[in-house]
Amino acid sequence: MLKLRFYYSSFLCVNYMYIMFIVIAILLVFADGFTVHGPPDPLVAPLGSSVVLPCFVDEPLPVKDLKVEWRRTDSETLVHLYQDGESRAEVQQQDYHDRAHFFTDQIQHGNFSLRLDNLTAEDEGEYTCKVYSQQDSNETVVQIKDVERLLVSGSSRSTSAYVGEDVTLNCSVDSHIKPEHIEEVSWKKTVGDEDILVLHYQNNEAFPDSSNEQYRDRVEFFTDEIPKGNFSLRLKSVRTEDKGVYMCQAFAGVLSANTTVVLEQLGFSSWHITVLFFCSVAGFGAVLLLCCLIYCRSKNTDNSRTIWNLQLSLVFFPNVCMFFAFILWGLTEGFLHETVTCSALYILRPVMLIWALSYLKYLQGMLEFKVFYHYYFC
Ligand SMILES: *[C@@H]1O[C@H](CO)[C@@H](O)[C@H](O)[C@H]1NC(C)=O
Ligand SMILES: *[C@@H]1O[C@H](CO)[C@@H](O)[C@H](O)[C@H]1NC(C)=O
Ligand SMILES: *[C@@H]1O[C@H](CO)[C@@H](O)[C@H](O)[C@H]1NC(C)=O
Repeated sequence: MLKLRFYYSSFLCVNYMYIMFIVIAILLVFADGFTVHGPPDPLVAPLGSSVVLPCFVDEPLPVKDLKVEWRRTDSETLVHLYQDGESRAEVQQQDYHDRAHFFTDQIQHGNFSLRLDNLTAEDEGEYTCKVYSQQDSNETVVQIKDVERLLVSGSSRSTSAYVGEDVTLNCSVDSHIKPEHIEEVSWKKTVGDEDILVLHYQNNEAFPDSSNEQYRDRVEFFTDEIPKGNFSLRLKSVRTEDKGVYMCQAFAGVLSANTTVVLEQLGFSSWHITVLFFCSVAGFGAVLLLCCLIYCRSKNTDNSRTIWNLQLSLVFFPNVCMFFAFILWGLTEGFLHETVTCSALYILRPVMLIWALSYLKYLQGMLEFKVFYHYYFC
Protein backbone atom coordinates (compact mmCIF):
# COMPACT_ATOMS: atom_id res chain seq x y z
CA MET A 1 0.00 0.00 0.00
CA LEU A 2 2.75 2.34 0.97
CA LYS A 3 4.63 1.33 -2.15
CA LEU A 4 1.61 2.10 -4.32
CA ARG A 5 1.20 5.52 -2.77
CA PHE A 6 4.79 6.29 -3.44
CA TYR A 7 4.46 5.32 -7.10
CA TYR A 8 1.34 7.39 -7.43
CA SER A 9 2.87 10.46 -5.92
CA SER A 10 6.04 10.22 -8.00
CA PHE A 11 3.88 9.80 -11.11
CA LEU A 12 1.97 12.91 -10.18
CA CYS A 13 5.17 14.74 -9.52
CA VAL A 14 6.68 13.85 -12.93
CA ASN A 15 3.47 14.80 -14.61
CA TYR A 16 3.35 18.10 -12.81
CA MET A 17 6.91 18.94 -13.81
CA TYR A 18 6.16 18.08 -17.39
CA ILE A 19 3.17 20.36 -17.47
CA MET A 20 5.16 23.15 -15.83
CA PHE A 21 7.87 22.80 -18.43
CA ILE A 22 5.37 23.14 -21.28
CA VAL A 23 3.77 26.18 -19.63
CA ILE A 24 7.15 27.84 -19.13
CA ALA A 25 8.12 27.10 -22.72
CA ILE A 26 4.88 28.62 -24.01
CA LEU A 27 5.35 31.63 -21.76
CA LEU A 28 8.93 32.06 -22.96
CA VAL A 29 7.90 31.98 -26.61
CA PHE A 30 5.23 34.55 -26.01
CA ALA A 31 7.43 36.69 -23.83
CA ASP A 32 10.32 36.61 -26.29
CA GLY A 33 8.00 37.24 -29.12
CA PHE A 34 10.39 36.34 -31.92
CA THR A 35 13.50 34.40 -32.76
CA VAL A 36 16.22 35.72 -35.04
CA HIS A 37 17.82 33.25 -37.42
CA GLY A 38 21.20 33.26 -39.11
CA PRO A 39 22.76 31.05 -41.77
CA PRO A 40 23.03 27.32 -41.03
CA ASP A 41 26.78 27.24 -41.83
CA PRO A 42 29.70 29.64 -41.51
CA LEU A 43 30.22 31.73 -44.64
CA VAL A 44 33.10 31.45 -47.11
CA ALA A 45 33.70 34.02 -49.84
CA PRO A 46 36.54 35.14 -52.13
CA LEU A 47 38.68 38.14 -51.34
CA GLY A 48 37.27 41.37 -52.74
CA SER A 49 33.80 39.91 -53.30
CA SER A 50 30.52 40.75 -51.60
CA VAL A 51 28.83 38.51 -49.07
CA VAL A 52 25.33 38.68 -47.59
CA LEU A 53 25.21 38.02 -43.85
CA PRO A 54 21.71 36.55 -43.39
CA CYS A 55 19.59 37.58 -40.41
CA PHE A 56 15.82 37.17 -40.39
CA VAL A 57 12.72 36.40 -38.35
CA ASP A 58 9.93 34.01 -39.28
CA GLU A 59 7.10 36.51 -38.83
CA PRO A 60 7.52 40.13 -39.95
CA LEU A 61 7.82 42.52 -36.99
CA PRO A 62 6.10 45.88 -36.65
CA VAL A 63 8.37 48.40 -38.30
CA LYS A 64 7.63 51.00 -35.61
CA ASP A 65 10.33 51.16 -32.91
CA LEU A 66 12.36 48.55 -34.72
CA LYS A 67 16.10 48.64 -34.15
CA VAL A 68 18.67 46.39 -35.85
CA GLU A 69 22.24 46.38 -34.66
CA TRP A 70 25.06 44.62 -36.53
CA ARG A 71 28.26 44.36 -34.50
CA ARG A 72 31.46 42.40 -34.64
CA THR A 73 31.22 39.95 -31.79
CA ASP A 74 34.90 40.06 -30.89
CA SER A 75 35.50 43.82 -30.85
CA GLU A 76 31.96 45.15 -30.37
CA THR A 77 32.64 47.38 -33.38
CA LEU A 78 29.41 48.75 -34.77
CA VAL A 79 29.12 47.57 -38.36
CA HIS A 80 25.66 48.95 -39.06
CA LEU A 81 22.77 50.43 -37.09
CA TYR A 82 19.17 50.75 -38.24
CA GLN A 83 17.11 52.88 -35.91
CA ASP A 84 14.09 55.21 -36.13
CA GLY A 85 13.36 54.12 -39.68
CA GLU A 86 16.81 54.78 -41.15
CA SER A 87 20.41 53.69 -41.33
CA ARG A 88 22.49 55.62 -38.81
CA ALA A 89 25.75 56.12 -40.68
CA GLU A 90 27.09 58.63 -38.14
CA VAL A 91 27.54 56.06 -35.37
CA GLN A 92 28.88 53.30 -37.56
CA GLN A 93 32.59 52.45 -37.74
CA GLN A 94 34.13 54.52 -40.55
CA ASP A 95 35.57 51.55 -42.42
CA TYR A 96 32.09 50.06 -42.94
CA HIS A 97 30.55 53.27 -44.19
CA ASP A 98 30.84 52.35 -47.87
CA ARG A 99 31.12 48.61 -47.45
CA ALA A 100 28.09 47.64 -45.37
CA HIS A 101 24.77 47.67 -47.17
CA PHE A 102 21.51 47.17 -45.27
CA PHE A 103 18.39 46.21 -47.25
CA THR A 104 15.91 48.74 -45.89
CA ASP A 105 13.23 47.54 -48.31
CA GLN A 106 13.48 44.00 -46.91
CA ILE A 107 12.64 44.98 -43.32
CA GLN A 108 8.92 44.61 -43.90
CA HIS A 109 9.54 40.95 -44.76
CA GLY A 110 11.41 40.39 -41.50
CA ASN A 111 14.74 40.28 -43.37
CA PHE A 112 17.58 42.16 -41.65
CA SER A 113 20.44 40.80 -43.73
CA LEU A 114 23.55 42.87 -44.33
CA ARG A 115 25.76 42.85 -47.41
CA LEU A 116 29.47 43.38 -46.88
CA ASP A 117 31.34 44.51 -50.00
CA ASN A 118 34.98 44.33 -50.96
CA LEU A 119 35.87 41.61 -48.46
CA THR A 120 39.28 41.65 -46.82
CA ALA A 121 41.04 39.07 -44.69
CA GLU A 122 40.23 41.19 -41.62
CA ASP A 123 36.52 40.57 -42.20
CA GLU A 124 36.91 36.99 -41.05
CA GLY A 125 35.19 36.57 -37.71
CA GLU A 126 31.83 36.62 -35.98
CA TYR A 127 29.05 39.17 -36.37
CA THR A 128 26.07 39.60 -34.10
CA CYS A 129 22.73 40.67 -35.55
CA LYS A 130 20.60 41.99 -32.69
CA VAL A 131 16.98 42.93 -33.32
CA TYR A 132 14.98 45.08 -30.89
CA SER A 133 11.21 45.23 -31.32
CA GLN A 134 9.05 46.96 -28.73
CA GLN A 135 10.06 45.43 -25.38
CA ASP A 136 11.80 42.39 -26.81
CA SER A 137 15.09 41.66 -28.42
CA ASN A 138 16.80 38.65 -29.87
CA GLU A 139 20.04 38.02 -31.69
CA THR A 140 21.95 35.58 -33.86
CA VAL A 141 25.61 35.15 -34.67
CA VAL A 142 26.89 34.95 -38.24
CA GLN A 143 30.41 33.75 -38.88
CA ILE A 144 32.60 34.57 -41.88
CA LYS A 145 34.95 31.64 -41.67
CA ASP A 146 37.19 32.17 -44.65
CA VAL A 147 37.93 34.95 -47.05
CA GLU A 148 39.40 32.87 -49.85
CA ARG A 149 42.64 34.38 -51.00
CA LEU A 150 46.15 33.68 -52.10
CA LEU A 151 48.40 36.70 -51.96
CA VAL A 152 52.12 36.50 -52.49
CA SER A 153 54.33 39.44 -51.64
CA GLY A 154 58.05 40.01 -51.72
CA SER A 155 60.12 43.08 -51.13
CA SER A 156 59.34 46.15 -53.18
CA ARG A 157 62.97 47.16 -53.48
CA SER A 158 65.58 45.06 -55.22
CA THR A 159 67.99 43.07 -53.14
CA SER A 160 71.73 43.41 -53.48
CA ALA A 161 74.60 41.48 -52.01
CA TYR A 162 78.33 41.05 -52.21
CA VAL A 163 79.70 38.09 -54.03
CA GLY A 164 80.41 35.33 -51.54
CA GLU A 165 77.81 36.54 -49.05
CA ASP A 166 74.48 34.91 -48.19
CA VAL A 167 71.34 36.73 -49.27
CA THR A 168 67.64 36.40 -48.37
CA LEU A 169 65.02 36.79 -51.09
CA ASN A 170 61.66 37.60 -49.49
CA CYS A 171 58.38 35.88 -50.24
CA SER A 172 55.34 35.91 -47.97
CA VAL A 173 52.18 33.97 -48.70
CA ASP A 174 48.89 35.15 -47.22
CA SER A 175 46.03 32.73 -47.67
CA HIS A 176 42.84 31.41 -46.11
CA ILE A 177 44.59 28.07 -46.30
CA LYS A 178 47.14 27.41 -43.58
CA PRO A 179 50.69 27.74 -44.91
CA GLU A 180 51.42 24.08 -44.22
CA HIS A 181 48.46 23.15 -46.46
CA ILE A 182 49.62 25.21 -49.40
CA GLU A 183 50.18 22.71 -52.16
CA GLU A 184 53.15 24.17 -53.93
CA VAL A 185 55.60 27.03 -53.77
CA SER A 186 58.38 27.35 -56.27
CA TRP A 187 61.25 29.76 -56.66
CA LYS A 188 62.33 30.21 -60.27
CA LYS A 189 64.78 32.40 -62.08
CA THR A 190 64.03 33.72 -65.52
CA VAL A 191 67.00 33.45 -67.87
CA GLY A 192 66.09 34.62 -71.36
CA ASP A 193 62.89 32.76 -72.26
CA GLU A 194 63.65 29.95 -69.89
CA ASP A 195 62.76 29.45 -66.25
CA ILE A 196 65.24 27.55 -64.17
CA LEU A 197 64.12 25.96 -60.93
CA VAL A 198 65.82 27.41 -57.88
CA LEU A 199 63.91 25.66 -55.10
CA HIS A 200 60.70 23.68 -54.95
CA TYR A 201 58.28 23.07 -52.07
CA GLN A 202 55.36 20.70 -52.29
CA ASN A 203 52.99 19.19 -49.74
CA ASN A 204 54.92 20.32 -46.70
CA GLU A 205 58.34 19.39 -48.02
CA ALA A 206 61.19 21.14 -49.76
CA PHE A 207 62.90 19.38 -52.66
CA PRO A 208 66.46 20.75 -52.86
CA ASP A 209 67.52 17.89 -55.14
CA SER A 210 65.27 19.14 -57.92
CA SER A 211 67.04 22.52 -57.96
CA ASN A 212 69.02 23.53 -61.01
CA GLU A 213 72.69 22.57 -60.83
CA GLN A 214 73.66 26.22 -60.42
CA TYR A 215 71.72 26.41 -57.15
CA ARG A 216 72.04 22.92 -55.74
CA ASP A 217 73.24 22.90 -52.11
CA ARG A 218 73.16 26.69 -52.04
CA VAL A 219 69.45 27.37 -51.43
CA GLU A 220 67.08 26.68 -48.56
CA PHE A 221 63.85 27.84 -46.93
CA PHE A 222 63.70 29.13 -43.37
CA THR A 223 61.95 26.06 -42.02
CA ASP A 224 60.78 27.78 -38.83
CA GLU A 225 59.22 30.59 -40.84
CA ILE A 226 57.08 28.44 -43.15
CA PRO A 227 54.20 28.05 -40.62
CA LYS A 228 53.95 31.86 -40.74
CA GLY A 229 53.62 31.76 -44.52
CA ASN A 230 57.15 33.05 -44.93
CA PHE A 231 58.65 31.22 -47.89
CA SER A 232 61.74 33.44 -48.12
CA LEU A 233 64.74 31.90 -49.80
CA ARG A 234 68.27 31.90 -48.45
CA LEU A 235 70.84 31.91 -51.24
CA LYS A 236 74.29 31.09 -49.94
CA SER A 237 77.64 32.34 -51.24
CA VAL A 238 76.23 34.54 -53.97
CA ARG A 239 77.99 34.53 -57.35
CA THR A 240 78.02 37.14 -60.09
CA GLU A 241 75.91 34.88 -62.31
CA ASP A 242 73.13 34.79 -59.65
CA LYS A 243 72.17 38.33 -60.63
CA GLY A 244 68.68 38.56 -62.10
CA VAL A 245 64.94 38.28 -61.55
CA TYR A 246 63.58 35.61 -59.23
CA MET A 247 59.93 34.60 -59.03
CA CYS A 248 58.18 33.09 -56.04
CA GLN A 249 55.01 31.37 -57.16
CA ALA A 250 52.40 29.73 -54.91
CA PHE A 251 49.57 27.35 -55.76
CA ALA A 252 46.55 26.46 -53.63
CA GLY A 253 43.62 24.71 -55.26
CA VAL A 254 42.63 26.69 -58.33
CA LEU A 255 44.38 29.79 -57.02
CA SER A 256 47.88 30.83 -58.02
CA ALA A 257 49.85 33.95 -57.26
CA ASN A 258 53.40 35.18 -57.62
CA THR A 259 55.86 37.89 -56.79
CA THR A 260 59.24 38.78 -58.22
CA VAL A 261 62.43 39.80 -56.48
CA VAL A 262 65.35 41.43 -58.28
CA LEU A 263 68.84 40.52 -57.17
CA GLU A 264 71.26 43.13 -58.44
CA GLN A 265 74.29 45.35 -57.89
CA LEU A 266 76.52 42.56 -56.81
CA GLY A 267 79.45 44.50 -55.43
CA PHE A 268 82.96 43.36 -54.65
CA SER A 269 83.44 41.29 -51.55
CA SER A 270 86.67 41.05 -49.58
CA TRP A 271 87.37 37.88 -51.58
CA HIS A 272 87.19 39.80 -54.84
CA ILE A 273 89.41 42.51 -53.47
CA THR A 274 91.93 39.84 -52.48
CA VAL A 275 91.82 38.43 -56.01
CA LEU A 276 92.36 41.90 -57.44
CA PHE A 277 95.19 42.44 -55.01
CA PHE A 278 96.97 39.28 -56.16
CA CYS A 279 96.53 40.23 -59.82
CA SER A 280 97.95 43.74 -59.27
CA VAL A 281 100.85 42.40 -57.19
CA ALA A 282 101.62 39.98 -60.04
CA GLY A 283 101.56 42.80 -62.60
CA PHE A 284 103.49 45.42 -60.64
CA GLY A 285 105.93 42.83 -59.31
CA ALA A 286 106.76 41.64 -62.81
CA VAL A 287 107.35 45.20 -64.04
CA LEU A 288 109.53 45.99 -61.01
CA LEU A 289 111.63 42.83 -61.38
CA LEU A 290 112.10 43.49 -65.10
CA CYS A 291 113.31 47.02 -64.37
CA CYS A 292 115.79 45.69 -61.79
CA LEU A 293 117.03 43.12 -64.26
CA ILE A 294 117.55 45.67 -67.01
CA TYR A 295 119.32 47.99 -64.58
CA CYS A 296 121.67 45.24 -63.34
CA ARG A 297 122.47 44.18 -66.89
CA SER A 298 123.13 47.72 -68.01
CA LYS A 299 125.51 48.30 -65.09
CA ASN A 300 127.29 45.23 -66.43
CA THR A 301 128.03 44.03 -62.92
CA ASP A 302 129.49 40.66 -62.84
CA ASN A 303 127.13 39.62 -60.06
CA SER A 304 125.59 36.76 -62.01
CA ARG A 305 124.05 35.38 -58.83
CA THR A 306 121.82 38.49 -58.44
CA ILE A 307 120.86 38.35 -62.09
CA TRP A 308 120.03 34.69 -61.80
CA ASN A 309 117.85 35.35 -58.74
CA LEU A 310 116.08 38.20 -60.48
CA GLN A 311 115.51 36.07 -63.55
CA LEU A 312 114.08 33.27 -61.44
CA SER A 313 111.80 35.66 -59.52
CA LEU A 314 110.58 37.17 -62.75
CA VAL A 315 109.54 33.73 -63.92
CA PHE A 316 108.04 32.47 -60.67
CA PHE A 317 106.61 35.41 -58.78
CA PRO A 318 103.78 36.58 -61.09
CA ASN A 319 102.74 33.04 -61.76
CA VAL A 320 102.50 32.13 -58.09
CA CYS A 321 100.44 35.29 -57.49
CA MET A 322 98.13 34.43 -60.38
CA PHE A 323 97.86 30.89 -59.10
CA PHE A 324 96.46 32.14 -55.76
CA ALA A 325 94.25 34.68 -57.53
CA PHE A 326 92.65 31.92 -59.59
CA ILE A 327 92.17 29.67 -56.55
CA LEU A 328 90.36 32.49 -54.69
CA TRP A 329 88.33 33.42 -57.73
CA GLY A 330 87.27 29.82 -58.13
CA LEU A 331 86.29 29.58 -54.47
CA THR A 332 84.09 32.69 -54.61
CA GLU A 333 82.47 31.98 -57.95
CA GLY A 334 82.35 28.21 -57.72
CA PHE A 335 83.76 27.53 -61.21
CA LEU A 336 85.63 24.31 -60.52
CA HIS A 337 86.84 23.37 -64.01
CA GLU A 338 88.03 26.83 -64.97
CA THR A 339 89.82 27.24 -61.66
CA VAL A 340 91.68 23.95 -61.84
CA THR A 341 92.73 24.56 -65.45
CA CYS A 342 93.91 28.12 -64.95
CA SER A 343 95.71 27.60 -61.65
CA ALA A 344 97.41 24.43 -62.92
CA LEU A 345 98.54 26.28 -66.05
CA TYR A 346 99.95 29.15 -64.00
CA ILE A 347 101.89 26.95 -61.61
CA LEU A 348 103.20 24.63 -64.36
CA ARG A 349 104.40 27.37 -66.70
CA PRO A 350 107.45 28.50 -64.61
CA VAL A 351 108.30 24.86 -63.91
CA MET A 352 108.33 24.22 -67.63
CA LEU A 353 110.37 27.35 -68.22
CA ILE A 354 112.99 26.23 -65.68
CA TRP A 355 113.04 22.82 -67.21
CA ALA A 356 113.48 24.35 -70.67
CA LEU A 357 116.40 26.42 -69.37
CA SER A 358 118.85 23.58 -69.91
CA TYR A 359 118.11 23.79 -73.66
CA LEU A 360 119.01 27.45 -73.65
CA LYS A 361 122.68 26.76 -74.32
CA TYR A 362 121.76 25.04 -77.59
CA LEU A 363 119.77 28.08 -78.49
CA GLN A 364 122.72 30.27 -77.59
CA GLY A 365 125.05 28.08 -79.62
CA MET A 366 122.67 28.25 -82.55
CA LEU A 367 122.47 32.02 -82.28
CA GLU A 368 126.30 32.29 -82.18
CA PHE A 369 126.62 29.94 -85.08
CA LYS A 370 124.13 31.93 -87.07
CA VAL A 371 125.96 35.18 -86.30
CA PHE A 372 129.29 33.64 -87.19
CA TYR A 373 127.84 32.15 -90.39
CA HIS A 374 126.33 35.41 -91.36
CA TYR A 375 129.52 37.32 -90.66
CA TYR A 376 131.77 34.88 -92.37
CA PHE A 377 129.89 34.20 -95.54
CA CYS A 378 128.18 37.47 -96.26
C1 LIG B 1 17.08 39.04 -47.45
O1 LIG B 1 17.42 40.02 -48.43
C2 LIG B 1 18.58 39.76 -49.16
C3 LIG B 1 18.83 40.92 -50.09
O2 LIG B 1 17.75 41.15 -50.97
C4 LIG B 1 18.45 38.44 -49.90
O3 LIG B 1 19.66 38.15 -50.57
C5 LIG B 1 18.16 37.33 -48.92
O4 LIG B 1 17.94 36.12 -49.59
C6 LIG B 1 16.93 37.68 -48.08
N1 LIG B 1 16.76 36.68 -47.06
C7 LIG B 1 15.61 36.11 -46.80
C8 LIG B 1 15.58 35.10 -45.73
O5 LIG B 1 14.61 36.41 -47.43
C1 LIG C 1 60.95 35.80 -43.33
O1 LIG C 1 62.04 35.19 -42.70
C2 LIG C 1 63.29 35.82 -42.94
C3 LIG C 1 64.36 35.01 -42.26
O2 LIG C 1 64.13 34.83 -40.92
C4 LIG C 1 63.25 37.25 -42.44
O3 LIG C 1 64.46 37.88 -42.75
C5 LIG C 1 62.12 37.98 -43.10
O4 LIG C 1 62.00 39.28 -42.58
C6 LIG C 1 60.80 37.23 -42.88
N1 LIG C 1 59.76 37.91 -43.63
C7 LIG C 1 58.62 38.27 -43.07
C8 LIG C 1 57.65 38.95 -43.95
O5 LIG C 1 58.38 38.05 -41.90
C1 LIG D 1 52.27 36.32 -62.02
O1 LIG D 1 51.19 37.12 -61.56
C2 LIG D 1 50.66 38.03 -62.49
C3 LIG D 1 49.56 38.81 -61.83
O2 LIG D 1 49.94 39.24 -60.59
C4 LIG D 1 50.14 37.29 -63.71
O3 LIG D 1 49.70 38.20 -64.66
C5 LIG D 1 51.25 36.43 -64.28
O4 LIG D 1 50.74 35.64 -65.35
C6 LIG D 1 51.83 35.52 -63.22
N1 LIG D 1 52.96 34.82 -63.79
C7 LIG D 1 53.07 33.50 -63.75
C8 LIG D 1 54.26 32.91 -64.38
O5 LIG D 1 52.21 32.81 -63.24
